[in-house]
Amino acid sequence: MDFDVKDLSLAEKGRLRIEWAGKEMPVLKLIKERFLKEKPLKGMRLAACLHVTSETANLMDTLAGGGAEVMICASNPLSTQDDVAASLVTHFNIPTFAIKGEDNETYYNHLNRVLDLKPHMTMDDGADMVSAIHKTRQELLEGIIGGTEETTTGVIRLKAMAKEGVLKYPIIAVNDAMTKHFFDNRYGTGQSTLDGILRATNILIAGKNFVVCGYGWCGKGLAMRAKGMGARVIVTEINPLCALEATMDGFDVMPILDAASVGHIFVTVTGDINVIDAEHFGVMMDGAIVANSGHFNAELNINALEVMAASKRQIREFMEEYTLSNGGRRIYLLGEGRLVNLAAAEGHPAAVMDMSFANQALSAEYMIKECKNLQKNVYTIPEHMDMEIARLKLDSMGIKIDTLTQEQERYLVSWQEGT
Ligand code: ADE
Repeated sequence: MDFDVKDLSLAEKGRLRIEWAGKEMPVLKLIKERFLKEKPLKGMRLAACLHVTSETANLMDTLAGGGAEVMICASNPLSTQDDVAASLVTHFNIPTFAIKGEDNETYYNHLNRVLDLKPHMTMDDGADMVSAIHKTRQELLEGIIGGTEETTTGVIRLKAMAKEGVLKYPIIAVNDAMTKHFFDNRYGTGQSTLDGILRATNILIAGKNFVVCGYGWCGKGLAMRAKGMGARVIVTEINPLCALEATMDGFDVMPILDAASVGHIFVTVTGDINVIDAEHFGVMMDGAIVANSGHFNAELNINALEVMAASKRQIREFMEEYTLSNGGRRIYLLGEGRLVNLAAAEGHPAAVMDMSFANQALSAEYMIKECKNLQKNVYTIPEHMDMEIARLKLDSMGIKIDTLTQEQERYLVSWQEGT
């Protein structure tokens, strides 16, 4: 089997970690049990470009259980769990191409080696695989029936492709499922971003001015959790609705240039570039900590920081100190500006990835059934599948809810009754 991982001797540690994550993924487990019986993905070659974590390993196992031939590469150079990658090769027989800390050339080499297996379906997190196929591997297009996309940034890129008329196969935007972004983006990013900051710095959050750039689902989760730990949270936004929401949720809202001079900790979760730029680094306090939890490190203008710095040194794992030539102030960059929750910690906890990856598995099955009826566009999974995932998750948590009586159902579809 072809693969490229850091060290196969880490496999046993990875296997235990995958098993532990699996215990928190009951919905995916139910899907796996059905897939093992029904084999709905039989004969499919599926190429995945995802964060190679213990949760993703459980997804790969589910897809393979459904009959697919799967192969995987990393969707970020710093997010791979090397022991999990080793176990995927050793225990799950899944060709894996991922090494934590790989450079950009290796990253794309890995992506292309997965593509060499001529997939029928792609599964992306950030759309690098779809983008590479459309730019440099167009010979693969005729064999591909469709793909899925995990994250907000990827969905934005794919919708831009569809709008320009250049997208060549249908995509299911897993991110747009309610059982994905309401939970993974909010509670997953909220908790795991703080986990990454804490592991990288071991600082006290209480009493700090914590600046959250972007108040989308990820920003909402992060602001909520930082507040819970005693930080004074400041939100920066460009969208008036989100800014209003942040204000009424009790946070200070101000432009990033104002926040830059008062913040102790900064985290970008916007999906856009140069959100923290030279002019902002230029007014930060000595000791400011800067991190990104959006998909790409482009949210921080790291090149500008490099230019502004007289020197740079590594202080702790995943933390670099930049000393600015002008005034000698020090700025601490976490995880090279890559998503701090996966670079310095372990990403979202398994219990929330359970729903995200249930969506991925069901979307792969749906794509096989429905690809003939789909255009070269970006689709959301049908609402009944989304609701079923929510129902299964509640069941697994032992939580019961009510059902409408016939009288209530009738009332909801009628219009005659009023005041
Ligand atoms: N994205 C965020 N957290 C993740 C995780 N634990 N596994 C895979 N993808 C993720």
